[in-house]
Amino acid sequence: MTPDDGTPPPFEPYRAKVIERIPNPGPAEREAALVRAHFNLFQLRSDEIRVDLLTDSGTGAMSDRQWAALMVGDESYAGSRNFAHFEAVVKDLTGFPYILPAHQGRAAENLLFSTLCRPGSVIPNNMHFDTTQAHVLHNGGRPVNLAIAEAYDPESDMPFKGNVDVGALETLLNMEGPERVPLVMVTITNNTGGGQPVSLANFREVARIVRAHQIPLYLDMCRWAENAYFVREREPGMRAHSIPEIGRAFFSLADGATMSAKKDGLVNIGGFVATRDPSVAERLNEAQILFEGFTTYGGLARRDLEAMAVGLQEATDLEYLQHRIAQVRYLAELLTKRGVPLFKPIGGHAVYLDVRRFLSHLSLEELPGQALVVEIYREGAIRSVEVGSLMFGNQEGTGRSLELVRLAIPRRVYSAAQLAYVADCVGRVYARRREIQGMQYTHRPERLPHFTARFAPAMAPATAPPVRSS
Ligand code: F0G
Repeated sequence: MTPDDGTPPPFEPYRAKVIERIPNPGPAEREAALVRAHFNLFQLRSDEIRVDLLTDSGTGAMSDRQWAALMVGDESYAGSRNFAHFEAVVKDLTGFPYILPAHQGRAAENLLFSTLCRPGSVIPNNMHFDTTQAHVLHNGGRPVNLAIAEAYDPESDMPFKGNVDVGALETLLNMEGPERVPLVMVTITNNTGGGQPVSLANFREVARIVRAHQIPLYLDMCRWAENAYFVREREPGMRAHSIPEIGRAFFSLADGATMSAKKDGLVNIGGFVATRDPSVAERLNEAQILFEGFTTYGGLARRDLEAMAVGLQEATDLEYLQHRIAQVRYLAELLTKRGVPLFKPIGGHAVYLDVRRFLSHLSLEELPGQALVVEIYREGAIRSVEVGSLMFGNQEGTGRSLELVRLAIPRRVYSAAQLAYVADCVGRVYARRREIQGMQYTHRPERLPHFTARFAPAMAPATAPPVRSS
């Protein structure tokens, strides 16, 4: 039975204590907003948006316990007791002895890659996220994506599509050796590849190979609790284990991690880098003081460290995770019922639309992912994000490029009714997909282009797109 046939939507294991009015811009307002934003949804104002599925990063709702934690902030420059609490929680969850806070994930990446990556370095990952890729490149390294072949097939239903191709990893490490590879990274879950999990068995294999080459292994652990949920659900023998136990099984195989606590830390800002290696910790600490701030605050107010300590624990609550994953699946089921082609299986934090099948009449040069995010906004003031050749550069010709549009679900924010609205709007866009025209660049920055690029409809005058009523 599908949700439309009467199955109740997933029960939210929380209730609202504070509410925020959401805007409802009409068709003409949306059209004007698109023109003003040069058809780049990163340039929209939040009051032009009804449902914001741009990202699940830093957009979640904090719990009452987290808001209370803010009030016990000890804003000492050095030695704040909030740092001590935060450090104890992260040590307990990860087992890493050195924990260095940073203001968000990319700041942690900056510390790690400016410390370990040199010109000529090769950095393997299952799939780099855009900021991770940018930090490797910024330090003169070469990012190499080594996810299994199924990761690039939107229709493959394999349960662990985030897995690393261990054969390819071994070949690369044999070729380059520890002189050229300062670290190997694995991203859980694989955001760039549809929010897909990595199995513990695969990560064990990766750790064995990497260790044999005496190379450090780091996790990009932004969505580690969601990854652990999938491992518990799908991997044989894991059902009896708690989320923290599964997390520790992963962390015990790694030498360190970078974390954006804006995801599975349930905060609006924050992150950290962790390591086992005392000499790396010392160099990270120097970089931290240079770029972020002193050891015991790392670019954050101390009250933020306290909220992060609480959030990191709440993210491991099974009832919370059950609802989170069910909510993503609920949206996916409603979209599937409307025939919308999705990247499969459904991942942890978002539903990804398969752009190649959705807009099969458009070529890659016509920027179909961007055309689709624009149409979805036009239809219902819903903001989504392209995750494809625009975000990552055109990787066509490598035979390994994904063209996706992501509907990321902020944690503990939207109701099932709001997601049903999204499904209706995207369903209507799908029904009129053949009318959708491509886009073109009018300004294309070199680095992280999706944030600031400007676009115009490919076949119409840039200044006068048709006003559509819906
Ligand atoms: N690694 C992964 C896998 C990510 O998804 C992100 C952020 C980062 C690193 C960087 O963290 O934003 O705190 O600096 N992803 C967000 C997203 C932006 O929308 O997926 P950050």
